[in-house]
Amino acid sequence: MVLFPEHRYYGESVPFGSREEAYKNASTLSYLTAEQALADFAVLITDLKRNLSAQACPVVLFGGSYGGMLAAWMRLKYPHVAIGALASSAPILQFEDIVPPETFYNLVSNDFKRESTKWSCAINQNFSTCAGN
Ligand SMILES: *[C@@H]1O[C@H](CO)[C@@H](O)[C@H](O)[C@H]1NC(C)=O
Ligand SMILES: *[C@@H]1O[C@H](CO)[C@@H](O)[C@H](O)[C@H]1NC(C)=O
Repeated sequence: MVLFPEHRYYGESVPFGSREEAYKNASTLSYLTAEQALADFAVLITDLKRNLSAQACPVVLFGGSYGGMLAAWMRLKYPHVAIGALASSAPILQFEDIVPPETFYNLVSNDFKRESTKWSCAINQNFSTCAGN
């Protein structure tokens, strides 16, 4: 079975009755956190397995980008819920106090530089001033 849960505050999973109320102020937005989302998924998976009499079935989490971060964090915070996680393109250490904020942009710029000096110039300057354009 593949389960694709919706993240709280998105799609139809909006608390406080409406999007307008949910996004109203810091107080109503305080439940929009990764920690709360992880707790949602832990309850959902546990509940669904019980409902399906599938408590013995192993669960593997997967996701890309933020979804990958959630998958990895889920394994750390709720190790009893899943036997593994695949975190694809998940910048789980991309926080200001761990990795310098310019690191991502340097990596992307280097990719373009490796492919073409023209594109690297276009990224660093106004495109129209680049040679060959
Ligand atoms: C935020 O909005 C809710 C719902 O309208 C309200 O009850 C609450 O007092 C508001 N909180 C703040 C800090 O403005
Ligand atoms: C599990 O079953 C209960 C009772 O029917 C239901 O309320 C709940 O939504 C179900 N949970 C899931 C994740 O299917």
